[in-house]
Amino acid sequence: MNYRHAYHAGNFADVMKHMALALCLTYLKKKETPFCVIDAHGGIGHYNLLGDEASKTKEWQDGVGRFMGDEDMPGEFLPYWMQVEDDLARYQYPGSPTLIARLLRPGDRLIANELHPEDVLTLEKNMASFTHARITHMDAYECIRAHVPPPEKRGLVLIDPPFEKKDEFDTLCTQMTEWQKRWPTGVYMLWYPIKSHLPISELVSAAMGLGIHRTWQCECLKYPSDQPDTFNGSGLIIFNAPFTVPESIQNIFGYLKTQMGLYDCRSSWLTSA
Ligand SMILES: C[S@@+](CC[C@H](N)C(=O)[O-])C[C@H]1O[C@@H](n2cnc3c(N)ncnc32)[C@H](O)[C@@H]1O
Repeated sequence: MNYRHAYHAGNFADVMKHMALALCLTYLKKKETPFCVIDAHGGIGHYNLLGDEASKTKEWQDGVGRFMGDEDMPGEFLPYWMQVEDDLARYQYPGSPTLIARLLRPGDRLIANELHPEDVLTLEKNMASFTHARITHMDAYECIRAHVPPPEKRGLVLIDPPFEKKDEFDTLCTQMTEWQKRWPTGVYMLWYPIKSHLPISELVSAAMGLGIHRTWQCECLKYPSDQPDTFNGSGLIIFNAPFTVPESIQNIFGYLKTQMGLYDCRSSWLTSA
């Protein structure tokens, strides 16, 4: 387990993923009944953008850093921005567990999971003040198996692997059939990297094959998707995409593109809307 998210926190992929996450949770809060969020690959929960790792890559400067001082943000960007703005002013960045915990209401629940033995301790420390968050230390797919469907019968699962393993795409194709069987009505957000050699079309076919309603895909590209040997972009597949979320994200594609100097942003429905 060599991947450390501290090198990448706040980059353009994080902005896209966390912006979508904030919109999904905002939608889920429209109903009073409580819900549960399972963050299967939690990371450490909070990042220092002036720390050694982030300073080495400076990826955040071309991601969340591009929004500093902008006073003309579209409304759809605000659920995300309101959770990061204060941290960013101190050169900090909230990871997905922190972002989620901040957006939940007192009756909602978060299970944030991390497998790395040291990172899970840091995650526990960083999340200590959130009483509605529980930290688990296990394999992500075991964590999902153990917790879906949640008793609340409403909620979201974030799947955000580091893709260090060569067979991660195959694993996801297999695992998603299990999610569909266990909890076909849950909202699942699955993140994937876009590199020319990766089997993204297989992942998309597997997602379509599940037949879950409202399966939607969006991609933010820094470079053309077939450019060899580069991290070309960031993709998301959302199963049971909450109403209005795809439209909200599409509405801010232009803004994201301009602010972060992206090559393209695109989206499509994989199953019926
Ligand atoms: C991309 S990072 C997560 C970032 C986080 N979701 C965020 O948005 O702030 C992926 C994390 O998954 C962890 N990880 C790797 N393999 C795992 C596994 N099999 N189960 C659970 N976590 C794993 C890594 O240690 C890393 O912290």
